[in-house]
Amino acid sequence: MAIEALMLQGLRNLAQVSIVPSSGVNLIYGLNGSGKTSLLESIYYLAYCKSFRTHKHKNLIQHDQSQFTAFCKLHSGNSRHQLGIERTVNGERRIKLNGEWMQSAAELAQLLPVQLLDPSMLKLLEGSPQLRREYLDWGVFHVEHDFISLWRQFKKAHQTRNALLRSGGHCSEAERSIWHASLASLAEQLNVMRKEYIKRLKPCFDKYIEQLNPNLNVTMSFYQGWSKDRNYLDVLNESWESDLKQGFTQLGPQRADLRLKVNNQPAIEVLSRGQQKMVVCALKLAQAEIYQQQSSSPCIFLVDDLSAELDINHRKALCTLLESLKCQVFVTAVEDTQMTDCWSVSSQLKKFHVEHGTLNQE
Ligand SMILES: Nc1ncnc2c1ncn2[C@@H]1O[C@H](COP(=O)(O)OP(=O)(O)O)[C@@H](O)[C@H]1O
Ligand SMILES: [Mg+2]
Repeated sequence: MAIEALMLQGLRNLAQVSIVPSSGVNLIYGLNGSGKTSLLESIYYLAYCKSFRTHKHKNLIQHDQSQFTAFCKLHSGNSRHQLGIERTVNGERRIKLNGEWMQSAAELAQLLPVQLLDPSMLKLLEGSPQLRREYLDWGVFHVEHDFISLWRQFKKAHQTRNALLRSGGHCSEAERSIWHASLASLAEQLNVMRKEYIKRLKPCFDKYIEQLNPNLNVTMSFYQGWSKDRNYLDVLNESWESDLKQGFTQLGPQRADLRLKVNNQPAIEVLSRGQQKMVVCALKLAQAEIYQQQSSSPCIFLVDDLSAELDINHRKALCTLLESLKCQVFVTAVEDTQMTDCWSVSSQLKKFHVEHGTLNQE
């Protein structure tokens, strides 16, 4: 999927934007505070209906405006879509896809497969397991169409068990075993999907990390949230008493994690920050490749402040891989020269200069 037109109004400091991006590389350059990240933020918002900088949607609305609007035309093979999102200061949200109002934002991520590489990318390694589960589940979601509904059912069943635990666990043994059987079945199905995905992800990740930073010896493993040789129904039954004391379900898919290690130690404790960034890049590239195999359409990469993050050799290595995946890329830099020589001529590079919120194509 590629964005073939992008229009913005009332977003951060950006003056009205109307651009026709390249389906290859788009370089957005300009001084600090000119509005580069805001542009990437708008694309991210179209994909996820949220920002990567703030939970407060209001912050995206230009100071003197009552709403912002982001609109894009998308194109992949023979399919074309038009997507628009509006957000008002009163907290109202309106999403229109191909002329129809939409209630939920869940479909958007399916439509716009956006990957972000920005200065906060190390959080994927050093942050809580939840971030890695989100990363993992993004991939599973795009590969397994039943994943989202299964995930919702699991979440509901899991919350019901937790509510029961918090209120003292008053139920008959027969009732409990029915609850547990259904929760365990959902958890096991979810877990199979995650494991299948990891099986595909791992060799891809190995390949990319080797290309970006040879001989790092990083290994990826999956912790499913409970001991891998136990079936989840037994775990639920046996942990009932201790879960009751805690007031929540201690083990299960809600505790899963993706572990990245070097010689059996967490990558985060051993690798330099630059090397850790390569690990994150390899994770995202691997995910993009699998997405592409699955959907026959490339991902869109938003790459913010790469020159501040990576040295020239690693920058070039990353750009070469993004090109070989034929991704549409939106990349920012302060000076255009920091990024222009990273790409081959075939990338259909378009340059946009941002100055005080005004975007001009060169
Ligand atoms: N809601 C808003 N309304 C108007 N300006 C904003 C708003 N939010 C942030 N800004 C300003 O927008 C400018 C652009 O920020 P940003 O996109 O992060 O710039 P860059 O990535 O080019 O350094 C900043 O100067 C910031 O103060
Ligand atoms: Mg910025």
